[in-house]
Amino acid sequence: MTDPPNVTADQSAAHGEDQWRSVDEGWGRQAVEFATLSEPTNCREYVTMHHRLGVGAGDRLLDLACGAGLAVELAGLRGARCAGIDASPRLLAVARDRSPDADLRVGDMNALPWGDESFDVVTSFRGIWGTTPRAVAEAYRVLVPGGRIGLTVWGHIKASPGAWAFAPFSLAAEPKVQNQAAMVALGRPGAGESLLKDMGFTEVERIEVPFVFEFADPEAYARALASTGPAFEAIQAVGQQAFREAAVELGRQQIREGLPLRAPIALVGYIAAKPSRLAPRRDGGTAPAEQHSTSFLSAPPPTPEGSRLLEDDLKGVGYATNVSRLWGHLPAALNGLSDLMAETTRAGSLSFAQRAVLVTAAASALGDSYCSLAWGQKLAEAKTPDIAGAVIGGGVEGLDEAEQALAHWARLVARDPNAISADDVQALRDVGFDDSHIFAITTFVALRMAFSSVNDALGAVPDRELRASVPEPVRSAVTFGRLPGTGEG
Ligand SMILES: C[S@@+](CC[C@H](N)C(=O)[O-])C[C@H]1O[C@@H](n2cnc3c(N)ncnc32)[C@H](O)[C@@H]1O
Repeated sequence: MTDPPNVTADQSAAHGEDQWRSVDEGWGRQAVEFATLSEPTNCREYVTMHHRLGVGAGDRLLDLACGAGLAVELAGLRGARCAGIDASPRLLAVARDRSPDADLRVGDMNALPWGDESFDVVTSFRGIWGTTPRAVAEAYRVLVPGGRIGLTVWGHIKASPGAWAFAPFSLAAEPKVQNQAAMVALGRPGAGESLLKDMGFTEVERIEVPFVFEFADPEAYARALASTGPAFEAIQAVGQQAFREAAVELGRQQIREGLPLRAPIALVGYIAAKPSRLAPRRDGGTAPAEQHSTSFLSAPPPTPEGSRLLEDDLKGVGYATNVSRLWGHLPAALNGLSDLMAETTRAGSLSFAQRAVLVTAAASALGDSYCSLAWGQKLAEAKTPDIAGAVIGGGVEGLDEAEQALAHWARLVARDPNAISADDVQALRDVGFDDSHIFAITTFVALRMAFSSVNDALGAVPDRELRASVPEPVRSAVTFGRLPGTGEG
């Protein structure tokens, strides 16, 4: 349970640069009680937002105003590499205890201590208010192009069935209660959408987020409520005892035999994306703006098969690749394609170098930068970087006779299968392939083209890590297709 309208420590920068430093007084004074009695009731909200953002293995995620870090811990359990910031050192101590590997810092969300484009996902659960637009600008700055943001803010509290649960906060002094309007402004229809769009975000979507306070009995409710930041203001005004008695009395009125106290409160969620950079096309134009950092599609809902693809990436190359994120929409199709490719590789008696020649030649003929980089790198390992660069550029220098024939064949299949003649097939026989080999080789190339076509059509962008890791002759030869959103051209 957290920040209702008349929040104790106004997070507004308007109250001075160092205002955030006093937040711990209200939020941190009962950090352990807050973390164990109040924060767990937010679980529906965390699960919903992580799911909608497709948070998964390999995502670099930052949670703003992370509190005691339950949301960070849950994102970590989904495989994300997490960071968080909160103004309360005592809450953050709990967060660190829960997620020792996360990068958790005490600080001001309006001046983030991370560099530009450091995160794939930024979340904030009732941490950003109408009075804290700078935090949204900071979130934009630290997100990679195409990164996703997910925020929650209170909705129409008074109209919520659980509005009673906030009533004790109105025991605070009148000016504090008056602060309500500005603090909940972001939940009003259109308000959050405008703020996010003004800050440069696109694909802004307003979603309903479930939120329910649920307690065993009136005493448990009163104890949990007293641990929150806004309770501090009320306690300052009327004292601990009066606050507790008021809460217990309210709780008593809500008792239902055999059921917990339950207070559903309207919560609004916003999800949005930072636009991707435009990628130059082979014809000198620019590709349309991508809708997502990794592809045109939003992240697929997490599934065990999709997570396995990303985990295999992490084990294999150390990061979750954009193609795996994309094929997470239908992992069975990728597995099926991979099986068929393996089968055709066997039937064609293809060596690793021959396979690398076929894929690099077909992908570059097709204008697929992703597979040209990935397999150009493999070809560079099997032969040399210069040979790989030459094959990407349409040449055959440095290849043996059979490899030259395969490069030629792959380009013919990729560019115009109807232009192929019997003489072209004979050229493969002349270097030692029989007809069953030729069938398998051709099917292999066609399967690779199916993979490339899906990736290119749906905007899968080569991973920055991939492009950075390939040898220079390969990188400079790939002047076509989609390029990573790094501004490197
Ligand atoms: C409503 S609580 C939300 C906490 C957490 N997100 C949750 O779900 O429980 C608001 C949080 O904002 C933190 N906070 C307030 N002002 C801040 C600021 N300027 N920078 C960072 N954190 C801030 C408080 O310490 C508190 O943990």
